[in-house]
Amino acid sequence: MASFTTTQISGSNSVAAFGLRNRTCLRTRVCRNGVGFRRVVAAVETGGEPDLSVTVNGLHMPNPFVIGSGPPGTNYTVMKRAFDEGWGGVIAKTVSLDAAKVVNVTPRYAKLRAGENGSAKGQIIGWENIELISDRPLETMLKEFKRLKEEYPDRILIASIMEEYDKAAWEELIDRVEQTGIDAIEVNFSCPHGMPERKMGAAVGQDCGLLEEVCGWINAKATVPVWAKMTPNITDITQPARVALKSGCEGVSAINTIMSVMGINLKTLRPEPCVEGYSTPGGYSSKAVHPIALGKVMSIAKMMKLEFNDQYSLSGIGGVETGADAAEFILLGASTVQVCTGVMMHGYGLVKKLCSELKDFMKMHNFSSIKDFRGVSLEYFTTHMDLVRRQQEAIKVRKAVKKGLQSDKDWTGDGFVQETESMVSN
Ligand SMILES: Cc1cc2nc3c(=O)[nH]c(=O)nc-3n(C[C@H](O)[C@H](O)[C@H](O)COP(=O)(O)O)c2cc1C
Repeated sequence: MASFTTTQISGSNSVAAFGLRNRTCLRTRVCRNGVGFRRVVAAVETGGEPDLSVTVNGLHMPNPFVIGSGPPGTNYTVMKRAFDEGWGGVIAKTVSLDAAKVVNVTPRYAKLRAGENGSAKGQIIGWENIELISDRPLETMLKEFKRLKEEYPDRILIASIMEEYDKAAWEELIDRVEQTGIDAIEVNFSCPHGMPERKMGAAVGQDCGLLEEVCGWINAKATVPVWAKMTPNITDITQPARVALKSGCEGVSAINTIMSVMGINLKTLRPEPCVEGYSTPGGYSSKAVHPIALGKVMSIAKMMKLEFNDQYSLSGIGGVETGADAAEFILLGASTVQVCTGVMMHGYGLVKKLCSELKDFMKMHNFSSIKDFRGVSLEYFTTHMDLVRRQQEAIKVRKAVKKGLQSDKDWTGDGFVQETESMVSN
């Protein structure tokens, strides 16, 4: 295992690497800490172990695994548990100014199992929820953020926020979460269910005009890095991602859940999850969404590389349960990988397995750090037309090889046996 030591990095050196708003952020943070330097945790490689640490928008994490907003970040006790188990960062459950407007129902989850007829013994591959954002009073959540930051000053705590289409409300919420000492903000532009009539969540993320305006308010106010969490429930996810980055966000997170209906109970003819005989479409997550999430992250990463010169961060989310799942997101350009349903199924200790599996993958390829392989698979995506061209060329080459040597002058000493073979008819 890599061991971690606390080092100090000069604020001015760090500033050079960040965007304009991050400078403000660092200054604020430096003042808040009351010292001229910002403390970060740096991984020290020991015994040739791969280094899992990442620095994203100036935030240093011992590993790229971050608790995704949802039940695993609902209160002090569970977020503390996440830090104690070794998660690189925690994104709390989404908060808004007035939790009294958030009314949840039960049951609010439904599972899809693999195996014959969704047999109860089959492995869980899909998870639907109709859960809203946090229904706990904002004041309570803020007190808990503050306590966590006091107890874990070197660990990364990110507030997830969502509000109505109201500039003053967004400004107040940002101000209040920032006062707790959180390190960054993730904006939930992606909750697929509940409250679209209040222009919240996906209702903003699906409307680029609205998104631009709201991102403008948010980025004029925030002094910490801002990540925009994108909904996959849209034809082209690169469009809102582009708008969010052009409007000042430092990063994009993708994906939130996919709009779904888990199933219909064939005895009662009622949809699931069934609340007093009725249901409503929900958000789909877990293993089944992983390939869809990879597709969305790939599109966003390609756009970010091409149009923003890779200067912003990307957080991959969707169906992560193994180090291999995480490696795929990183190979497509993500710097961090979020896990939500995986923690609900396997518990907080999952991070240890994720870290060791990711290290195994890195050792297999001799990668010593995350940046050694971040984004390297992106270049292997091309158009279908280009695949056809490549295949036709490859066939031509194979045919030419089959035909053997074109002239006696082509015989070589080293390849003599293969050259002979290439001219034997079967
Ligand atoms: C029960 C549940 C509640 C969730 N609540 C939130 C939320 O409050 N805010 C948010 O941004 N995402 C929320 N999500 C979405 C997750 O953060 C994540 O984007 C999605 O589930 C895909 O990742 P996963 O397959 O690792 O769960 C929730 C997901 C689940 C399953």
